[in-house]
Amino acid sequence: MSATGKSKKITTLSFSRKKRKGEKIVVLTAYDYYTARILEDNGVDAILVGDSLNMVLYGKKSTLSAEMDKMVFHTTAVSDASRRALVIGDMPFLSYQPSVETAILNAGRFLKEAGAEAVKLEGGIEIAPTIKRLIELGIPVMGHIGMTPQSINRLGGARVQGRDESDKQYIIESAQALDEAGCFASVLELMTAPLAMEISKMVKMATIGIGAGPDCDGQVLVTNDIIGMYGEFKPRFVRRYANVSDVIGKAVKQFTDDVRTGDYPTNEESFLE
Ligand code: KIV
Repeated sequence: MSATGKSKKITTLSFSRKKRKGEKIVVLTAYDYYTARILEDNGVDAILVGDSLNMVLYGKKSTLSAEMDKMVFHTTAVSDASRRALVIGDMPFLSYQPSVETAILNAGRFLKEAGAEAVKLEGGIEIAPTIKRLIELGIPVMGHIGMTPQSINRLGGARVQGRDESDKQYIIESAQALDEAGCFASVLELMTAPLAMEISKMVKMATIGIGAGPDCDGQVLVTNDIIGMYGEFKPRFVRRYANVSDVIGKAVKQFTDDVRTGDYPTNEESFLE
């Protein structure tokens, strides 16, 4: 809380401060204005406009076909709703891999057009020079290592990473490289809990886990997953706090019945003159 009693704006610096103090960092995804408002009103520290929107909003099988224009469009809606939380735009596949110049122009769009305050991009040691350059130019970067969904075809699916020695070594070296490049934080996705703990102790940047055990500096989940927006799909690391698809389904069913039985609309719901 600030001297005025209002919660202080979260910045990238808040991440390292929270890490130092041992305060857990809470991150959730949002893709639209009103969901972002709910996240804001309930105290999340950062809102990630994830390229997961390609799957959970647009029904695609992977994140690979998410486009820059779509990401900028949704990030703008989230930025408009956000006051305290840090807004992070997720760089889609091929928006930063081809060259440092491409990365600068696309990362810049998130800050300049969409009002984001940081970007996230996937990859390890191989992408660290690009990240370093973005940070030098004033664009804060959150890394993303472990199971990186944009590499799902190479990884052979959403599999837990860091189980064999060479994979573990690559992830550790990647975490070091992202830390040295100046990332304020990095997502650690789907890796063994002991590996995530080792990395979290080793690096200055805050580690934000998803399926990476309890010892990260914070946790991120996809909001649509925790509110139960769809039937049975629930990865092991997701905790479901609501069953929104059930709530929507019941409302739709009731409306359908009410229209068919003539129960809707009543006189009160009509304009009689
Ligand atoms: O796209 C996304 O929502 C993400 C989180 C799952 C970390 O990358």
